[in-house]
Amino acid sequence: MFKYLTYVSRQSHVISDKDLKELLQKSRSNNHELEVTGMLIYFDGIFIQYLEGKAAHVDNIFEKIAKDKRHHAVTELDSGSNNKRAFSDWSMAFKRLKDDEAALILGYKDLKSDKLFEPTEDAKSHPALSILNNYVKNL
Ligand SMILES: Cc1cc2nc3c(=O)[nH]c(=O)nc-3n(C[C@H](O)[C@H](O)[C@H](O)COP(=O)(O)O)c2cc1C
Repeated sequence: MFKYLTYVSRQSHVISDKDLKELLQKSRSNNHELEVTGMLIYFDGIFIQYLEGKAAHVDNIFEKIAKDKRHHAVTELDSGSNNKRAFSDWSMAFKRLKDDEAALILGYKDLKSDKLFEPTEDAKSHPALSILNNYVKNL
């Protein structure tokens, strides 16, 4: 069984393309080492990340991520276990969205980012998961 976990966060300062590239390189190499896979979405200063792998490895990485000063308001939205990976080929897929693209995906006129940090009664219908699901179905 694999553990999966989704969270949202806000960048602490504007992240340059170079900083983002470094963050991704490090993340991919660490995740590869621990056989953790997933996806990171970045738009309008917000990160949405989906991680999956052995529970101890996901917890270990998420503990480091949660303490990272490059972002704050790290809010776990959903976690559980699955017998299949959604991202078997990606140590960390990455997608940068245009600021209005997330709202378009959700069919909203505009997206108040606070909405992404509020829990929904059913985690599976959370807008952050819907944005991820636009790229990989059935998370
Ligand atoms: C938005 C965001 C996503 C991150 N995702 C990952 C990740 O998937 N895997 C990872 O190892 N580190 C990730 N990091 C970096 C960790 O917070 C931390 O800097 C890194 O794991 C430290 O690695 P080290 O212990 O090898 O120095 C992420 C950081 C941020 C801000």
